[in-house]
Amino acid sequence: MSGKRLVVLSINGRDVEVPARPTDTLLDTLREGLGLTGAKRGCNQGLCGACSVLLDGRTFRSCLSLTLNCTDRAILTVEGLANGNELDPVQEAFVASGAIQCGYCMPGMVLAARALLDENPHPEVDAIREAIGGNLCRCSGYTKIVEAIRMMGHS
Ligand code: FES
Repeated sequence: MSGKRLVVLSINGRDVEVPARPTDTLLDTLREGLGLTGAKRGCNQGLCGACSVLLDGRTFRSCLSLTLNCTDRAILTVEGLANGNELDPVQEAFVASGAIQCGYCMPGMVLAARALLDENPHPEVDAIREAIGGNLCRCSGYTKIVEAIRMMGHS
């Protein structure tokens, strides 16, 4: 554990203790320290959104912040969305709409959708596009993703 110290993070509703170096990003800690691999390492520069989690309910790029700066914040990863075997309604909508292709961007996309719907339960297309604008998808063309989120707001 050279150079690491124990920090407490609030993740998916639970306080967890994890060793982290001062230079570890939240993404490093989630994936390597805690085995929460839903947040993906894409660009590692804050550009693609693949590493997105919710921090205090807002979309946040976990590759951009040091773990030590994330204590005392409520972190939600995609692993925390489902309730046991029951998917979050956003996840259900993505499946029902066929919005999932390779899946790499999906955790970040689903969390961005969740954050939007929590704030605006009936978003129009422009608001949806803006909410997911920071999450790059290289294979779907976004149409089905927008449909899935719109379906949530009009169900
Ligand atoms: Fe963090 Fe791309 S990996 S924004």
